[in-house]
Amino acid sequence: MDERPIGLMDSGLGGLSVMRVLHKQLPRESLIFVGDQGHFPYGTKSQEELQHLVLNIGHFLVDQGIKMMIVACNTATGAALPLLQRVLPVPVIGVIEPGAIAAVHHHLQTVGVIGTASTIAKGAYPATIHRLDPQMKVFSHAAQEMVPIVEHGLTGTPQAQTTVNSALAFFDQHPVDGLILGCTHFPFLTPEIQQKMSSDVLLIDPAYETIKQAQTTLTDRDLLANQGTGTIKLFTTGERAELVAGAERWLTGQFTSCDHVDL
Ligand code: DGL
Repeated sequence: MDERPIGLMDSGLGGLSVMRVLHKQLPRESLIFVGDQGHFPYGTKSQEELQHLVLNIGHFLVDQGIKMMIVACNTATGAALPLLQRVLPVPVIGVIEPGAIAAVHHHLQTVGVIGTASTIAKGAYPATIHRLDPQMKVFSHAAQEMVPIVEHGLTGTPQAQTTVNSALAFFDQHPVDGLILGCTHFPFLTPEIQQKMSSDVLLIDPAYETIKQAQTTLTDRDLLANQGTGTIKLFTTGERAELVAGAERWLTGQFTSCDHVDL
């Protein structure tokens, strides 16, 4: 039993799509989240820049006394997961391998992957999927323009649907059975994405498999919290009001505090 918090990070609001699953599945866990809005977006940055930013956040979270870190960002996972796992004194879990495992579990013949420019250029999803299932056909496509729609609170608007329609037009010529939402901002565009893709295309949110892995790691190391309801502390390197607005919407206001931090 271990009441220390779990640390999470993202470039912005996307990480809240992982937090909401984590809080639902493991409500006793206390969480600390850093949204790096001060350096948003991540998807167009170099690997070196990303490693520097993410490592900095990892050290901050360790200083807050976390027992485990979840990199709730595909771009950060692709650029910095092995580095974090090597350097930080706590277990670190990313979202890409769980997303690939989830796709393989569904026995799809053809899967699409959408993510930031960085995630798609890096190719970690096809590489991981093909390690698990060399037969699966994978179509990867960058949809960076969908990220600011979520970050700037525009989901559910006609602009959101227009942006999704044009970002995913690639799949008109490349039909898929399932689509991995390989950016943590994208689950918040689920209605728009499902509207654009045929209704029988399965949308895969890697958060569920990620939280399953987190639960296994905590259980195996005897790190689960087992009393009360956990607290949720939010930090942003950007405007506090923007993270508060995002958390009111996507965490339905379930957070304990929200503060600005310079990192
Ligand atoms: N939410 C992020 C991801 O999962 C990054 C979005 C961005 O900042 O470009 O990749």
